[in-house]
Amino acid sequence: MSRVLIIGSGIAGLTTALRLAGRHEVTVVTKGRLGESNTALAQGGIAGVISTDDTVESHIADSVGAGAGLSDATAVRVLCSEGPERILELAAAGVAFDRDENGDWARGLEGAHSIPRILHAGGDATGKAIVDALSKALRAAVATGTVRLLEHTMLLDLVTSPTEPDAGCGLSSEVTDAVSRREVTGVHVLRHGAHEHLSADAVVLATGGAGQLYAHTTNPAAATGDGLAAAIRAGAAVSDMEFYQFHPTSLAGSGFLISEAVRGAGAPLLDAHGHRFMPEVDRRGELAPRDVVALAIHRRMAAQAGRPCYVDARSVPEVMTRFPSIARGLAAHGFDLATDLIPVTPAAHYFMGGIRTDLDGRTSIARLFAVGEVACTGVHGANRLASNSLLEGAVFGTRAAAAIDVGPGFETGLTSAQLSEASLTREARLGTDSCAASTVSREDLQALAWAHLGVERNDHGLRALLDHLGEGERAAPRTLGEYAPQQLVERVETANLVLIARSIASHALARRESRGAHTRSDFPAPSPILFGSTTALLQEAVSC
Ligand code: SIN
Repeated sequence: MSRVLIIGSGIAGLTTALRLAGRHEVTVVTKGRLGESNTALAQGGIAGVISTDDTVESHIADSVGAGAGLSDATAVRVLCSEGPERILELAAAGVAFDRDENGDWARGLEGAHSIPRILHAGGDATGKAIVDALSKALRAAVATGTVRLLEHTMLLDLVTSPTEPDAGCGLSSEVTDAVSRREVTGVHVLRHGAHEHLSADAVVLATGGAGQLYAHTTNPAAATGDGLAAAIRAGAAVSDMEFYQFHPTSLAGSGFLISEAVRGAGAPLLDAHGHRFMPEVDRRGELAPRDVVALAIHRRMAAQAGRPCYVDARSVPEVMTRFPSIARGLAAHGFDLATDLIPVTPAAHYFMGGIRTDLDGRTSIARLFAVGEVACTGVHGANRLASNSLLEGAVFGTRAAAAIDVGPGFETGLTSAQLSEASLTREARLGTDSCAASTVSREDLQALAWAHLGVERNDHGLRALLDHLGEGERAAPRTLGEYAPQQLVERVETANLVLIARSIASHALARRESRGAHTRSDFPAPSPILFGSTTALLQEAVSC
């Protein structure tokens, strides 16, 4: 029986925890209350092949098509072929997926899917339904003593130690030189204002994304990349950091998500003059892949002096009953989905990049696993297909649990090239070995990130951001003790976001092309030569 720490309580963390409960000493650590997560905000649904008129091959083709040439084919196959079973398990766990008038699964359509395959619950409250069901199961496990739950507990840092040189990892010396040769032995957390150390045989990071880096985001306040930043500090390999997905349609000025499913139900996008512009941009119109639609809105806004575009759902049949949560959320902001044009702008939504893992969640650090949005299996390539994220959490959370069951040893399925990213990551730590508070204000950081790491980037802006953040980092205090607990949480979160911003900027500088969610105004076309990871380029730059 291993002591397993799971950090994060969205679909990926809860799936992993519930799979391991009873067979291992499982502790779930979550920054807020159980159930408060990005998963709970997911509206559109979960993509999966559940009907006989659809095929796994078609879901694979759509996922790879959206990924702009960079999707890992094996990871995509795993996601799409194991997904249906995970969805059936969610239904069995109590997620009441919507049914049509014949009692069949109700299925929605979203961008870049060739067939309606988005399964939903409560109309547009799929994430909440999933989190409610999984949280209920977790609370039951807590009640029986098979899981320990630590709410309001923030991850500060991973604790690692060197592995024995001959620890049986089975890696070539070339690879082991590149790998940090470390194993995780626990974590430092902040709990009720005090520092605590928790020991573990395996640590699973399921801390989600870092949308709070940006001035505009659909993510909740807790999405500050704490797990990713801790992994970078510990020297774990990261990849695809330049690929942050911007959702095309968040309510202007609020970040409230207007699901792609609304466009899938027939709502067009209009510019400030009431003109429907997407058919001129892409033959798939409003249902082009998310990167295409977000960029089109971003450019249209620039051409109309920053004014937002509009989602026009006025002619969508039964729009209020199909999208009850969105209708309620809009009403709280003074809009009527059935009668008003809804002003929308792109907003940071989902991190395709993250901690490099194999298909079982193993990272380049022994005994450290990562699942869900914080991980990068390569499954999303340069642009995630709509509604593949909940699926990712369920599929890869399940696989990580199975790998931990076998024993959290040193073996990893990462290739030599992937593992060599660890050395690059060490460079990216930029002298930060343990978490420090930031001197850059959150607002300044978010504005900088939106301007220079947003929908469009260029060399000048990326360098300006790195210079600015480098100055702040040099001035940052190395001791956390000088802050009161609440101030400390905010400062540490901001420092985590600064570290991530610098990593995104370095990767974005190295990718001198536009691809998927990464648009360089100074390199507007995709490179004719496909390069998978910016790592090699960054390593060259580091060694120069
Ligand atoms: C949405 O409902 O538009 C978001 C779904 C997703 O992020 O895949």
